[in-house]
Amino acid sequence: MDSKELRRVMGHFATGVTIVTTRDASGTPFGLTANAFASLSLDPPLALVCVDKGASCYSCFAGSGHFAVNVLAEHQEEVSRRFATKSASKFDGLSWRASERGLALIDGAIGHIECKIVYSYDGGDHTIYVGEVLHATVAEDGKPLLFYKGKYHKLPE
Ligand SMILES: Cc1cc2nc3c(=O)[nH]c(=O)nc-3n(C[C@H](O)[C@H](O)[C@H](O)COP(=O)(O)O)c2cc1C
Repeated sequence: MDSKELRRVMGHFATGVTIVTTRDASGTPFGLTANAFASLSLDPPLALVCVDKGASCYSCFAGSGHFAVNVLAEHQEEVSRRFATKSASKFDGLSWRASERGLALIDGAIGHIECKIVYSYDGGDHTIYVGEVLHATVAEDGKPLLFYKGKYHKLPE
């Protein structure tokens, strides 16, 4: 299967957009834009995210053993673009706070889900991290940023 065609076909599956964050041993935050995120189980509470083995923050996931998922709001396209571009300064000028576990929670996101990694599986050029959900909050009236066919979208008014 041609990878460009595979990407084009998979792009027809509409998703939300998240920033998945983790940290290194010194507490420095790292993060990347991810739509390969899924709710996996309610009992026990599990969620999964797929992380590219080539991502700059890749090694931090195994090191910290935790990740946080920030579900982006419709006005956060710039945040998504920023975290989808390789840079050492993704957090500069961004409004965020560290959770009790030291994970970056981005202000304005409509959902924050903190997880402890309990399983990891090889997924080709990605690793599938399954996290036990430790804490989750949501902004009840928030509207999500969407991604479909390689473009950002909003829900209709
Ligand atoms: C909408 C969107 C969804 C993405 N989803 C994922 C994903 O689920 N997993 C992933 O590893 N990279 C994903 N990426 C690509 C990464 O965000 C991008 O390669 C990022 O720069 C990697 O992190 P790094 O800059 O720290 O290397 C996505 C990019 C976009 C724009």
